[in-house]
Amino acid sequence: MKAIYASTLLSLTMTLAVSAFADEKAQEIISGRGCVACHATDSQRVGPSYKAISEHYDHNEETVAFLVDRIRRGGAGSFGKVPMPPNGKVSEEEARVIVEWIFTL
Ligand code: HEC
Repeated sequence: MKAIYASTLLSLTMTLAVSAFADEKAQEIISGRGCVACHATDSQRVGPSYKAISEHYDHNEETVAFLVDRIRRGGAGSFGKVPMPPNGKVSEEEARVIVEWIFTL
């Protein structure tokens, strides 16, 4: 019983540590790549809030791949007519970190 409790606690702690790391990494990329000019976590700016993006999609591998592509290539039509320009300096791996963070919101 005790062992089960300890391993549950351990995996919970690890999950929290991983998400804290992902959060920090995502923030670093977002602030380093100019996304802040158009996006905020809770409020609409030029683009939708990250929370609105998270709520707009089912969270699965397909939507992650779609958004990774959207971040890198830009696009329009998901939230309105205002397009997002391509963010060419963001690598696929960085975009994935951002999308995975967005889906925690
Ligand atoms: C010049 C303003 C601008 C910048 C800079 C910008 N975005 Fe956007 N973003 C937008 C707009 C506008 C939309 C809505 C596009 C649409 O309706 O399809 C959007 C949409 C998105 C979406 C959802 C795409 C979809 O099709 O649902 C994600 C994810 C996103 N942005 C992430 C980012 C990240 C990460 C960065 C930084 C690397 C970034 N954006 C930089 C304006 C911007």
